[in-house]
Amino acid sequence: MSTAPPAAASGDVADRAAAGFRAGYGEAPAGRWAAPGRANLIGEHTDYNDGFVLPFALTLRTVVAAAPQPGERWTVRSELSDTPVEFGAAEVGEPGRVTGWGAYVAGVVWALREAGHRVPGARIAIASDVPLGSGLSSSAALEAAVLAALVDLGGLDLPAEKRPRLAQRAENAYVGAPTGIMDQSAVIRCRPGHVLFLDCRTEAVEHIPFDLDAAGLAVLVVDSRAPHRHVDGEYAARRAACERAASLLGVPALRDVAVADLDGALARLDDEEIRRRVRHVVTEDQRVLDTVGLLRAGRIREIGPLLTASHVSMRDDFEITVPEIDTAVEAALAAGALGARMTGGGFGGCVLALVEADQADPVARAVAQAYADRGFPAPRTVLPAP
Ligand code: GLA
Repeated sequence: MSTAPPAAASGDVADRAAAGFRAGYGEAPAGRWAAPGRANLIGEHTDYNDGFVLPFALTLRTVVAAAPQPGERWTVRSELSDTPVEFGAAEVGEPGRVTGWGAYVAGVVWALREAGHRVPGARIAIASDVPLGSGLSSSAALEAAVLAALVDLGGLDLPAEKRPRLAQRAENAYVGAPTGIMDQSAVIRCRPGHVLFLDCRTEAVEHIPFDLDAAGLAVLVVDSRAPHRHVDGEYAARRAACERAASLLGVPALRDVAVADLDGALARLDDEEIRRRVRHVVTEDQRVLDTVGLLRAGRIREIGPLLTASHVSMRDDFEITVPEIDTAVEAALAAGALGARMTGGGFGGCVLALVEADQADPVARAVAQAYADRGFPAPRTVLPAP
């Protein structure tokens, strides 16, 4: 078992990864490396605008068991697939040659090599408790766990604070998803019991205590189970609109528009849709800063309205929510949640609700009832209230 912090793994999912390794390769792994899923408390679609985000790590984790193998060969097994993925230097030399879930692994090998590292050949087995396609960063968790394994197995010099950019490069340039830096930073840099206040321009972080138990609160994370609709194209379109707006406004990124200057900035844009996109990003950055201020002062309960305002902004200005998501938020609020919002990239995924600890069950039941009333498939609580 690897002892390298913070990625060393233990527990059930780690045992599954090791068992998968033994079954697939007929020997014990050299170690196991883990990375968690994440939820984002607030700050959506701000990361690629050089802005602020506030994610926290889930207890759900992805674990890879791995061992070196000779030459430049990588073999990857997943508990979700009967067929291993195998690739060599040729396939990792060119983005896009490995597709499907294997691309996240090949992308990490590619990005390491691009950065000049000598990446050891490896056998890998993956097990995960992070649900796929629920917006909880299962892909970033896989990238981070594979990265930790290859760094350790190869004795590579890559400190933790440099890993998010490398994993993001794997996702952007090899897998081809134009995401920001939040997810990879969250799964690599978050600490238990804290939210990660990340400045996505400088990558400076502050670990802010987030002790829900002590405050008598809970966060419910509900998987909307909404089918992802045009996710990739819509995400890329939002990003392109933000970059276009920044260029029209003559700033490096929308982070450079202060909330106090928002009206003036909006007046200089003649497209109503672009104005709404800008308003979301600029006000969302401010909501992150306001949330941080309240958390630093230990006033967790008071962040509720900011969470809900973030949701309204995503729904009306950034237009990335779907009926299942809005239903879950409305039902949670009607049942007494202090605040609720979609978390993650949008068009499905999860809703997060801040609730009094003793209200977690009633709020979850109210969401389930609202779903049943509208004929949606039953939602799933991903994170039970602590
Ligand atoms: C996805 C992306 C992140 C971020 C969020 C939205 O999770 O991977 O980079 O842009 O959407 O906040």
